[in-house]
Amino acid sequence: MAHLLVLHGPNLNLLGTREPNVYGTVTMEGINRDLASLADRFGIGIDFYQSNHEGDIIDRLQAARGQSDGIIINPAAYTHTSVAIRDCLAAISIPTIEVHLSNIHAREEFRHTSLTAPVVMGQISGLGALGYTLAFHALLEEFAKRGLLATES
Ligand code: DQA
Repeated sequence: MAHLLVLHGPNLNLLGTREPNVYGTVTMEGINRDLASLADRFGIGIDFYQSNHEGDIIDRLQAARGQSDGIIINPAAYTHTSVAIRDCLAAISIPTIEVHLSNIHAREEFRHTSLTAPVVMGQISGLGALGYTLAFHALLEEFAKRGLLATES
């Protein structure tokens, strides 16, 4: 069974009440619930992880080697600052989609740079929670290409 890791970076545990004018009212649990039911529908194993700590995020990404076939990550503020998370994503080389709820390119200048974007498959930014669903489908396509889907013969 193909396996997906969904990783939420710092402060995303506060979604729902955190700056709803920027991030909407969707909660992290709501996002996870939707992804879990998609995973169930397509026969994909799925794990969720949230941390506010850079080193913990790196440890979880490293643990995904040999375990997960794809990753959906919102590195949150670490997107703009973490060379260490970028290096980790490059090192583990698992197909990864970077998701941002808000359009980081339309916000403050310091958010325009993503250190992680150059080492992932693609970035989805500004589509709210829909971004996670789209990322799921992008990885599903990748799993199909690699012959990882159970329905394939
Ligand atoms: C974010 C955008 C980042 O700039 C910010 O630091 C976040 C959330 C987003 O999902 O829009 O925490 O990644």
